[in-house]
Amino acid sequence: MAWAVWVGSVRKGSYNAALARALPELAPQGVSFDFLPSVATLPIYDADVEAEGFPAVVEATGAAIAAAEALVIVTPEYNYSIPGGLKNALDWVSRLPSKPLGRKPILIQSASMGVIGGARAQYHLRQVLVAVDGRVFNTPEVMVGRVQTLLTDGTLTDEGTKTFIAKQLKAFSEFIGR
Ligand SMILES: Cc1cc2nc3c(=O)[nH]c(=O)nc-3n(C[C@H](O)[C@H](O)[C@H](O)COP(=O)(O)O)c2cc1C
Repeated sequence: MAWAVWVGSVRKGSYNAALARALPELAPQGVSFDFLPSVATLPIYDADVEAEGFPAVVEATGAAIAAAEALVIVTPEYNYSIPGGLKNALDWVSRLPSKPLGRKPILIQSASMGVIGGARAQYHLRQVLVAVDGRVFNTPEVMVGRVQTLLTDGTLTDEGTKTFIAKQLKAFSEFIGR
C-alpha cells in the first residue's frame, strides 16, 4: 500500500517539495508514494460551499488519504506556524463525514532556510492533528535547517540528511507495523 504525501508549499522551486520527491529513494523497500493534490487547488473553506456539497478536489484528497496506509506531511514554517494553505486543506478534509484523518498514521517533515528547520510549524501541526485524531509518529523528528545548502539542482544530495531521513522512514514503517 502507498503512503500519501502532502506538501505544505505550492511554489515551483519549493525545498519541501524537493524533500518530498526524495521519499521514494529513501523509504524502505515496498513502500510507494501517492502525491495528494496541491493544497492550492482547494478553495478557502466555506461552510456555505460545504452545505452545497464538498468540492471534488476535497473528496479526491480525502479518498486518497483514506486509501493510503499512512500520510506524510512535508511543510515549511510560515511565521512560526504552518502555511495557511495547508491548514485550509486540513480543515476541509476534517469536515468529510468519513473522517479520513482519524487514526491515520501520520509522519511530519519540515525544511527551512533558517537553522531551526521548521520546528515551530511541526508543533503547531501536531496540535491540529490532535483535533482530527491522527496517529502522529514522534521521533526521530526530521527538521531540515539550511535546506538550500543541501540540494543540487532541486534534488536532495546531502548524504547525512538522506541517511537521517531514511532512518526516520524505517522507524515510521515499524511504527505502523509494516
Ligand atoms: C510568509 C512567510 C513566512 C515565513 N516564516 C518563516 C518562519 O517562521 N520560520 C522559518 O524558518 N522560515 C520562514 N519563512 C521562510 C521559509 O522557510 C522559506 O521561504 C522556505 O524556503 C519555504 O519553503 P519552500 O521552499 O518549501 O517553499 C517564511 C516564508 C514566508 C513566505
